[in-house]
Amino acid sequence: MPVHMFGQPCDMNPILDVAGKHDLMVIEDAAQAAGAEYKGKKTGTIGQIGCFSFYLNKNITTAEGGMIVTNDEQVATRAASIRNHCRPEVSNIPNVPAYNVFWGIGWNARMNSLQAAIGRGQLRRLEDSNRRRTQNAAYIRHYVEEFEWLRPQKVIKDAKPVYWMQAFRIDEDSKIDRDEFTSAVSAEGVKAEGYTPIPVHLQELFTKQVGYGRTHCPFDCPVYGKKIQYKAGDCPVAEKLCKQDVVIPCYHSLRGSDLNDIAAALTRVARWYETKHR
Ligand SMILES: Cc1ncc(COP(=O)(O)O)c(C=O)c1O
Repeated sequence: MPVHMFGQPCDMNPILDVAGKHDLMVIEDAAQAAGAEYKGKKTGTIGQIGCFSFYLNKNITTAEGGMIVTNDEQVATRAASIRNHCRPEVSNIPNVPAYNVFWGIGWNARMNSLQAAIGRGQLRRLEDSNRRRTQNAAYIRHYVEEFEWLRPQKVIKDAKPVYWMQAFRIDEDSKIDRDEFTSAVSAEGVKAEGYTPIPVHLQELFTKQVGYGRTHCPFDCPVYGKKIQYKAGDCPVAEKLCKQDVVIPCYHSLRGSDLNDIAAALTRVARWYETKHR
């Protein structure tokens, strides 16, 4: 499940190769990347399934909700049914209508007409919104390019990102503390933060293993035959990166004065670090 983080497409070809070798489905998480492209293809349409979020901070929104896209008819039919309490499209039981048949445990994840109408309107604005985000991100990057330790998220070859946020990484060698840096920028009136302060495997969901029922599977899974307990140090790369990332807003409705405020806050704080360390 590749995640196109902050609107940057993942390098999909190597992922598709590995998936092909092991007969795996590729499910793209394009929640932050509606409209982005990889080698001329839209993110979300490269694997077997693409997922989008229309939560209100995304590039387009229906206030809540999302969408999956797929070329696979079976997946499409199954997904449409699961979101409707696992009712089948057509009943296979004589004299019982489809809305009274349930083949599994499903949810109500239906998009209502009002949300769909908002979504259609938003879709018309997507290209313009992404263009503005891309321009805003470039503006922000331009002002901080002199600070080599503040490294913008890499754009891979043949990718057209859509910049849900402008992400940076604070270089390890700089010895600059990310939380101190983001607090200082925030004190200047500009929202800056680490996007993933806690790596996934250290979330309480996994460390305390709450909510896995009596069998406690998969943590005590008899089939696996080994107890699983996540702890600090298990994923050293993720743990390191989670202390280095910084995200800066670049959304489409920022005005020129907002962008100037962002550039000024970032450069003021970054220059302070430069003088401190020299
Ligand atoms: C990368 C990514 N994946 C998944 C989600 C979940 O989307 P939703 O909250 O619409 O279910 C989000 C949204 O926050 C996201 O940013």
